[in-house]
Amino acid sequence: SGTVARNDDGAIEVGGIDVRDLAAEFGTPAYLLDEADFRARCRAWKAAFGPDADVFYAGKAFLSRAVVRWLHEEGLNLDVCSGTELAVALDAGMPAARIAMHGNNKSNAEIDRAVAAGVGRIVLDSFQEIVRVAAAAERHGRRQPVQIRVTVGVEAHTHEFIATAHEDQKFGLALAGGQAAEAVRRVLKLESLELIGIHSHIGSQIFDMAGFEVAARRVVSLLAEIRDEHGVQLPEIDLGGGLGIAYTADDDPAEPYQIAKSLGEIVTRECEAARLDPPRLSVEPGRAIVGPTAFTLYEVGTVKPLEGLRTYVSVDGGMSDNIRTALYDAEYTVALASRRSDAEPMLSRVVGKHCESGDIVVKDAFLPSDLAPGDLLAVPATGAYCRSMASNYNHVPRPPVVAVADGQPRVIVRRETEEDLLRLDVG
Ligand code: LLP
Repeated sequence: SGTVARNDDGAIEVGGIDVRDLAAEFGTPAYLLDEADFRARCRAWKAAFGPDADVFYAGKAFLSRAVVRWLHEEGLNLDVCSGTELAVALDAGMPAARIAMHGNNKSNAEIDRAVAAGVGRIVLDSFQEIVRVAAAAERHGRRQPVQIRVTVGVEAHTHEFIATAHEDQKFGLALAGGQAAEAVRRVLKLESLELIGIHSHIGSQIFDMAGFEVAARRVVSLLAEIRDEHGVQLPEIDLGGGLGIAYTADDDPAEPYQIAKSLGEIVTRECEAARLDPPRLSVEPGRAIVGPTAFTLYEVGTVKPLEGLRTYVSVDGGMSDNIRTALYDAEYTVALASRRSDAEPMLSRVVGKHCESGDIVVKDAFLPSDLAPGDLLAVPATGAYCRSMASNYNHVPRPPVVAVADGQPRVIVRRETEEDLLRLDVG
């Protein structure tokens, strides 16, 4: 990615601006996002999938009004997962028709809001939800387009907590045992619902296309069964998100073009075998678009060498701005950002300021042995699932997101303040 480049002074730049200037202006920790990189990735996905497919950016990875505007301008659609994500999307001007509403336990209020707004699709996740969405559509006098999320039963090769297509988990309706087919029967009977397709999401941070291949095959065979049983061919399939990005040099992600090509080929082949007209394809990448576009800038507070073990480098954030290392054992890299150093590398662990030993940002890293308090560190690839999963543990205010475009930094999500937090405490 173009986000980590050094200037002649040896300092890292984002969009042409020195991190030392950004730290001085916006403080640390901060997420620094390269808007041009974000837009380029949107365009790459859009171009790769072409006019016969839709790219829904998964807002859970990171959502803000600015992000919604960029998506809108670049022609992407948006997948939201809660009433408030929907509110951000609508408020920033995303046309409702281009929004998909997800969630395994949407409240009645969320369903009502989505139907009233006229979202392009609601992805149904349970039998109860079929009834709830139908009732909301009736109340609003609408015929609501829906997809049914199915669990295809593949084991995606990723962390257990982010795999979603094996049978023993909370999402979707299982193909095996006929739950999905039963859901189709129930939806087709309801006048207020328009069944536009079948949805599958197999997990996240996946590199191997084999899981998508199995998923596509099973979704297409369900489409063929639906045609045989009901005499209707559903027009769309959605294969979800989950495409991996490079967190370390060992990760080797595919380009959107390769992904589109291989998904397209799989769907075409399976449809030919089942003698179905190829449905319109959609995908929901979150991480693959926003993940590489940002890094977190921290300031070093203390440096503690432990004889024979490693050096603990404490920064001014931690698990409150990046829970992924603690939660998924995720791997990150780190670089000294404010200067160049030729000092000997030392085995280091970058840790946060929170009250637990699991508060680790980067498990293993080599940092220069002259590292000192006040140095700035950059942890790349924190655009996805870091700000969006940030917490206020230890009453730490959440960091801002600063987007740089055309050599200009702009705060798109401001830093929380102590006042913000104290305002919530009304006891
Ligand atoms: N579509 C659906 C239905 C999803 O559940 C998700 C992610 C996506 C799309 C987007 O997946 P992506 O392309 O970003 O991998 N918090 C975890 C990841 C959990 C993702 C949950 N669903 C993490 O930090 O790795």
